[in-house]
Amino acid sequence: MVDFMLTEEQQRLRELVCKFAQREIAPVAAELDREQRFSQEIVDKYYEIGLLHSAVPEEYGGAGLSSLEGCLVAEELAAACGGVASYLGANNLGLMPLLIGGSLELKQELLAKHCAGPNLAAFCLTEAEAGSDVASMRSTAKRVEDEFIINGTKQFITNGGVAGLYSVFASEQPELRHKGISGFMVPANTPGVSHGKKEDKMGQRAADTREVIFRDVHVPAHFRLGTGLDGFKIAMMTLDESRAGVGAAAVGIARAALEAAVAYAKERKQFGKPIAQLQAIQFMLAEMAMKVDAARLLVWRAAYLHDQGSRNTKESAIAKCFAGDTAMQVSTDAVQIFGGYGYMKDYPVEKYMRDAKLHQIYEGTNQVQRLVIANELLR
Ligand code: CAA
Repeated sequence: MVDFMLTEEQQRLRELVCKFAQREIAPVAAELDREQRFSQEIVDKYYEIGLLHSAVPEEYGGAGLSSLEGCLVAEELAAACGGVASYLGANNLGLMPLLIGGSLELKQELLAKHCAGPNLAAFCLTEAEAGSDVASMRSTAKRVEDEFIINGTKQFITNGGVAGLYSVFASEQPELRHKGISGFMVPANTPGVSHGKKEDKMGQRAADTREVIFRDVHVPAHFRLGTGLDGFKIAMMTLDESRAGVGAAAVGIARAALEAAVAYAKERKQFGKPIAQLQAIQFMLAEMAMKVDAARLLVWRAAYLHDQGSRNTKESAIAKCFAGDTAMQVSTDAVQIFGGYGYMKDYPVEKYMRDAKLHQIYEGTNQVQRLVIANELLR
């Protein structure tokens, strides 16, 4: 049986986050965007309602949400602001390698402390010369007695300047490419950790995106994840999990753009009647609605498979790619329906379009998603 109905508890969760997002995020979204300002206040309030560490099991102080529930949450947050949704979601992304590859002791040591407050984590994988091609990373980790010494610079890191805890990928044996990479947890206050200037982005401007620099950073040997040299797989498994949530955030942006376009089309009069009565506009709205619904179903399928314990590499890539492309198309069409006004910053739709664009780029470009899908089909 396939059941598209949410449980009462899931519906309540969705309503809770919707109310939170519309009350605490939507009213300041334009301001955070204009000023390119990260709001810790939103993090604090999100922590207060118990959802900041949503993917972390309750035993470590998190909310213990399933992947599907995480998608419900992400859609509501992103419908209010794509940038805020990104930085709240990036906390779970940063913690995911620890959840996947951390020993029980390491989880108890780091997670409980992290989840005891409104703290953010960040996922440090990308480098200047290693974006899509993860295996080319230059960051290194060298074992010296009972420590690892990490050196390298990570690029475009969401929460780079505001995180208290980083998951970091570095190579112990660069000549082995992906087989030489290990994952590590690095508290931000470790000597040798610093960050670059805040990036001036086209969209998702509320998110704090920076270089994170590691210079002779010493971490205890037990801060290494997994069995060592399995960091590439831990990173890929993390992305399998996170791509459904990122797709859900794209659905949120697309949905918000569609709702704005529907409301505007009913109000805006041309040729003596609301433009909603013009078939050209109706067909655009219908196309937009079809894409939003299809994207959401793909996202839910990817999350559902993960919750069943099944590998969802192909399905999460399909969901992320389709939802990201949908957010771009639907927000662009919303700007078109708003006409000249849509191009102005007085209306929200140009922000949706700018925020949506990143969904075709981060967490693996949509070209990489197509590569992953094809690899899975042809394996
Ligand atoms: N799960 C488990 N294992 C996996 C896997 C998965 N999903 N994907 C690949 N592997 C394994 C393969 O089976 C293979 O294993 P063996 O060594 O045993 O054969 C190994 O990993 C290497 O796989 P590939 O040969 O496919 O590796 P590749 O070097 O060709 O790269 C890639 C594949 C898909 C292009 C990968 O590099 C990739 O995903 N790139 C995109 C990176 C990305 O998404 N970056 C986003 C950063 S995070 C971000 O943007 C967040 C933010 O700021 C908000």
